[in-house]
Amino acid sequence: MPYSTITGIGHYVPKNVVTNHDLTKVMETSDEWIRERTGIEERRYITKGKETTTTLAYEASIKAIADAGIDKEDIDFIVFATLSPDYYFPGAGVLLQRELGIAKTEIAALDIRAQCSGFVYALTTADQFIKSGTYKKILVVGAEVHSVGLDFTTRGRNVSVIFGDGAGAVILEATEDKGVAIQATSMHSDGTYAEKLSYMYPGAHGGYFIEKYAIEGFDVDYGDPEFGGYFFNQNMIDQNRVYPHMEGQAVFKMAVRKFPEVIMETLTKAGMEVSDLDMLIPHQANLRINQFVAKTMRLNEDQVYNNIMRYGNTTAASIPIALSEARDEGKVKKGDNVVLAAFGAGFTWGAVVLKWGRD
Ligand code: UT7
Repeated sequence: MPYSTITGIGHYVPKNVVTNHDLTKVMETSDEWIRERTGIEERRYITKGKETTTTLAYEASIKAIADAGIDKEDIDFIVFATLSPDYYFPGAGVLLQRELGIAKTEIAALDIRAQCSGFVYALTTADQFIKSGTYKKILVVGAEVHSVGLDFTTRGRNVSVIFGDGAGAVILEATEDKGVAIQATSMHSDGTYAEKLSYMYPGAHGGYFIEKYAIEGFDVDYGDPEFGGYFFNQNMIDQNRVYPHMEGQAVFKMAVRKFPEVIMETLTKAGMEVSDLDMLIPHQANLRINQFVAKTMRLNEDQVYNNIMRYGNTTAASIPIALSEARDEGKVKKGDNVVLAAFGAGFTWGAVVLKWGRD
C-alpha cells in the first residue's frame, strides 16, 4: 500500500495590509484589545473585483506545483477546502481547475466544507485516495476571502477583527517511503454546536433549526411566500442576518480541550509521543488558544509555529500558509515530525502527523 508525501508547497496572501489601527477608523475597537485577546496585529484583504478565493488559490497552487517540480497536467485530483467559495455553487475546485488551465484533463475536483478544520479534512481525504491507489498526484488547497463578507460596524467587531484572506496549497504524491510520509490522521465533529460559529443566512433551513433548538436572536421574518423567499429574502438583509455569527467564549473553551486531545490521539496512532514532536502547526484562530495548548502539552515556544500576528485567522488557509512559511524559514526540516491540528465551526476538529520529506 502506498503512503502519501508532500512534495511541494506554496502560499499566497494579498498585498493589501490592514492594521488594527485601520479597523479603529470604521468601528469601536482598539489595537490593544485585538492584540491582547487574539495576538493579531494585521491581516490581508483582497483587492475587490481583482482577486477572489480561487485566484488566491491559483497563486498558491502554481507555487506548490513548481516546488514539487511536476507538470500541472499530471495532477489527478483537486481537493479544495474553503468556507468562502466564489460561487454558492459550483464549488471552488472546478473554478481552480479552470484557472490552472487543466479543465481538459477532466480530473475530479472536490470541495471540502469543514471551515477551520478544512485543510486537515482535505489532506486526510487526499491521503486516503493515495493509500487506496486511486490517485498519485493530488493538489490540496485551503483558501479564503473573508474581507468581503464581514460586518465592519461595531456590532460585528467580535468577528470582523479576527479574519483575513489568504491561500495555501500542497502537492501530495504517492511514495513507498514511510520515512517521508503522512503517519496518521484523525477527523472529528460534534454538530450539537453547529450554530455557535455559523453563517446561517442565506440558507435552505427556512428557520427550522432555529425553532427546533430554540436559538435566540437569529430568527427572520419569512413572510409567507408561496415559492422561493425561504433561501434568501430582503428581511435577512434588513435584520442584519447575512453575517457570520460567533459565540467566541464557547468556541475558545472547546478548542483548548479538543486540540490537545486530537493531537495526542493522532500521535498515539502514529506510534509517537509528545517528545517526538518537532513542530506543531496549529490552526491560527487565536494566539491565546495556541499558547494555552502549548502550555498544556508542555511544548517549547520554538515547537509551535504561529503567524496569526500577520494574517489573522484565514480559516482553511491558515495551516498550509503556516506550514509553507515554516518551511521557508527553515523551521520545518527534512525528517522532522510535524503535527498539523485544527478546531473550528461545526464543531469540527482533526490532526495530521507527518514526517516532513522536503528540503
Ligand atoms: O477559527 C474559528 C475558531 N474560532 C475561534 O477559535 C475563536 C475563539 N474565541 C476567541 O478567540 C475569543 O472568544 C474572541 C477573541 C473572539 C473574543 O474574546 P473574548 O475575550 O472571549 O471576548 P468576549 O466576546 O467575551 O467580549 C468581551 C468584551 C465585550 O464587551 P463587554 O460586554 O464586556 O462590555 C465585547 O463587546 O469585549 C467586547 N468586544 C470588543 N471590544 C473591542 C468584542 N469584540 C471587540 C473588539 N474590540 N473587536
